[in-house]
Amino acid sequence: MAVTAVVGGQWGDEGKGKVIDLLAGTADVVIRAHGGDNAGHTVVNDLGEFALHLVPAGIFNPAATCIIAPGVALNPAGLVRELEVLEQRGVRTDGLLISDRAHLVMPYHLMLEQAQEGSRGADAIGSTGRGIGPTYGDKVGRIGIRAGDLRDAVKFRRRVSTGLAHANDQLRMLGRFDGEISESQMADEYLTYASRLREFIRDVSPIVAGAISRGAEILLEGAQGTLLDLDHGTYPYATTSACTVAGLCQGSGVPPQAVDHSVGVYKAYCTRVGSGPMPTELKDGVGDYLRERAHEFGTTTGRARRCGWFDAVVSRYTARLNGFSSIALTRLDILDELETISLCVAYDLDGSRIQDVPYDASLLERCRPVYEELPGWKTSISDVSDFEELPREAMRFVERVEHLVGAPADMIGVGPARRQTISRGRFRSAAPFAKP
Ligand code: GDP
Ligand code: IMO
Ligand code: MG
Repeated sequence: MAVTAVVGGQWGDEGKGKVIDLLAGTADVVIRAHGGDNAGHTVVNDLGEFALHLVPAGIFNPAATCIIAPGVALNPAGLVRELEVLEQRGVRTDGLLISDRAHLVMPYHLMLEQAQEGSRGADAIGSTGRGIGPTYGDKVGRIGIRAGDLRDAVKFRRRVSTGLAHANDQLRMLGRFDGEISESQMADEYLTYASRLREFIRDVSPIVAGAISRGAEILLEGAQGTLLDLDHGTYPYATTSACTVAGLCQGSGVPPQAVDHSVGVYKAYCTRVGSGPMPTELKDGVGDYLRERAHEFGTTTGRARRCGWFDAVVSRYTARLNGFSSIALTRLDILDELETISLCVAYDLDGSRIQDVPYDASLLERCRPVYEELPGWKTSISDVSDFEELPREAMRFVERVEHLVGAPADMIGVGPARRQTISRGRFRSAAPFAKP
């Protein structure tokens, strides 16, 4: 199990931060592979609760090298703030490395995103507003600015000039140009971040290659979730990076054949933030109950998350796309008090039963979930550490999810803390932070 990829199987916020933190106890290298500070990964450990946005969730193991990979969209202002908070709370950050190939989020990307969302009106994506889409847009347009460009002030200023002129043109086209932002002020500000981050910025490719060739334990940390993937997600209500195992390989520079194990993180129910179809969404008291009990409010934006039952149709689709060898089924404890629990096993689309996810968001919007009902267990499982100690009904729920998704639940979450984790199968002797 030298290289393990950890990917969201739903619409994000599945609990990837907790899973990475647990597995990072024996990792040599933890690589955050894609996305930007649109992500919010929560870790609860002896030092308290942390919300990480760019720093890999392996940072709590001081022996691990934590890498922000070429595929990440990096907001240096956000990263500097995040490092300050970690250091103030006693977390060592000297194991961090930033790829010189990572693209920088610039202030004009944030402005552009706001303008683009505004111009979409009722069709707005519900972006986190972190400028991630426009940053990747400039990367694809080949006018992006990369972390390594901060090393040369003259070259950096030239790139800022090109990027800003392009952004201003787009703002004018959208009718949202409110006057020039000072090019030199922006470049000066970024060059001050450069002085703080310089020690971390590196060509990480040889470091990653060296770790693979010596058989080091490497964790690839995914952000968002497969249903937000740009190619395979619920387009256009998607993020702008590749959120799959393949995307993690691309973003990190780890060759696909080096990945030994891929873990899909799924909640025992579903949540979604922002717009777009979600067939099992509960717009009733049960949805409100789940949101309140699980405190389903965004780690990054504080927005209320939409809640619904576990959807095996989308889950099977994401497991198939990623080839998950294990599932981490999180937040099972949230279902503790329910009389019955529903699982969506198919959709009804205009009178026909379907088992696949239609390509068009408006078709998925029309899909009505076909549910199977399972009895609840009506008792707290927050202190259970062995699968066999779970109530029979909870075991049955887990086994049904495993069967429907097609991979074993080798990790089961019964609470946010490290110890509130059932590790079995492939993880029986892993997840070292879970051990008391
Ligand atoms: P991520 O973006 O995938 O890392 O997930 P978030 O951190 O945005 O949201 C997951 C939330 O669930 C966080 O508040 C975690 O502390 C919490 N969490 C993770 N696993 C469990 C679990 O098994 N039970 C409970 N009750 N909370 C969990
Ligand atoms: P983690 O890593 C949940 C959602 C946004 C919006 C869509 C596009 O914490 O799981 P963007 O800002 O990327 O242009 O927004 O994607 N989104 C997330 N939802 N968790 C995330 O990250 C998300 N990152 C983006 O709400 O619907
Ligand atoms: Mg999150």
